[in-house]
Amino acid sequence: MHQLSLEKDKIKILLLEGVDPSAVDALGKAGYTNVEYERGALDPRELMERIEGVHFIGIRSRTKLTAEVLARARRLVGIGCFCIGTNQVDLDAAARQGIPVFNAPYSNTRSVAELVTGEYLALLRDLPARNRLVHNGGWKKTAGGCFEARGKTLGIIGYGHIGTQVGIIAESLGLEVIFYDIENKLALGNARQVETLQELFARADIVTLHVPETPETKGMIGAGEFAAMRDHVFFLNASRGSVVDVDALGAALESGKVAGAALDVHPVEPKSNDDEFVSPLRKFDNVILTPHIGAATEEAQRNIGIEVANKLALFSDNGSTLTAVNFPEVALPRMRSDVSRLLHIHRNVAGIMRRINEIFSDENINVAAQYLQTTPEVGYVVMDINSSAPEELVPRLKAIDGTLKCRILY
Ligand code: NAI
Repeated sequence: MHQLSLEKDKIKILLLEGVDPSAVDALGKAGYTNVEYERGALDPRELMERIEGVHFIGIRSRTKLTAEVLARARRLVGIGCFCIGTNQVDLDAAARQGIPVFNAPYSNTRSVAELVTGEYLALLRDLPARNRLVHNGGWKKTAGGCFEARGKTLGIIGYGHIGTQVGIIAESLGLEVIFYDIENKLALGNARQVETLQELFARADIVTLHVPETPETKGMIGAGEFAAMRDHVFFLNASRGSVVDVDALGAALESGKVAGAALDVHPVEPKSNDDEFVSPLRKFDNVILTPHIGAATEEAQRNIGIEVANKLALFSDNGSTLTAVNFPEVALPRMRSDVSRLLHIHRNVAGIMRRINEIFSDENINVAAQYLQTTPEVGYVVMDINSSAPEELVPRLKAIDGTLKCRILY
């Protein structure tokens, strides 16, 4: 439990694992300059020691914020994962301590879309096989099996952040775009949503996958789906390795049903750069295999740095938890200069709001606005007060049974 005032230089921020320096710049622009920056991850003992003194911590995937580590983080008010995944953090333990966790799920959208675009253009021109052939001293100067993208039909499965970007780039190249999504989506440009996967398979010259990993998408593309696709289709997967049965894809490549494929994600990916990549698809010259680098661009890293830093700064400045992955999401207007704002994070048990309101009414405090969101575990209430809140309010609010954190912004 800790109160943070808005003396920004007192707010300590620890950034680990060499997060992009754009994060430091973004925090600095927001007034947060008390930043310690480490290029690597800390060993567990040092992490335990250093997390004790900080209000915010920024990590990537190597720092494990377990319940044990978080128990030491008595001052911590927010966690930034400068990446997409958040399973390196015990999200429930963080929520139980009243700590929101933020990440950057969409900063790399454009990078993935550009990779996919480059790959289907390369596949259409048989570049992977011809490149390898020429490197090996061969020569195959024929037009057979090589195509322009213009006029072809691109079938996008999963028309979300990445799928839509892939679609608009494709349209500007002159492809016709159709997509399948479980939700009704507003089509960008002239793209058309189709009702069924079967319809997409029947029409698409190129099929590209942009779905999340869910129980429904696991093994979503197997032998039956490849059989339903057009002959000599080009197939791409930059979503998740579990979505495609790679043995079935291998069989479809063997038979010529699939004319070429590009895979950035794989059912089994090496844990480190020193481990061998194993896949039945390695033997195919007409398959582009990449090591899960869809998001690996300098621009994406920079965008991630800015996005997560801004989320931490916003939470610190005005209490907004929009897009937090483990926490009630409260989107708050900018604080007016003539109000103070109470942020109260508590276990989601009955009676807490009544206690808060009692304290306010005892003190004759007029509430200008109130925002409340809950998850099954945690409640988060934000109240704007038409005056500066008396200091003695804070200990009384903290004393309410079930309070996890309380702070007042002036
Ligand atoms: P998103 O959440 O914006 O879009 C996903 C879309 O798929 C949504 O429109 C959703 O309605 C749709 N969808 C969900 N289940 C479906 C189903 N069963 N059938 C058809 N559509 C379905 O996600 P975003 O950002 O576009 O990412 C898509 C995928 O790309 C994710 O799997 C993500 O993990 C992966 N990804 C891969 C990267 C790489 O390095 N290769 C980098 C970033 C994301």
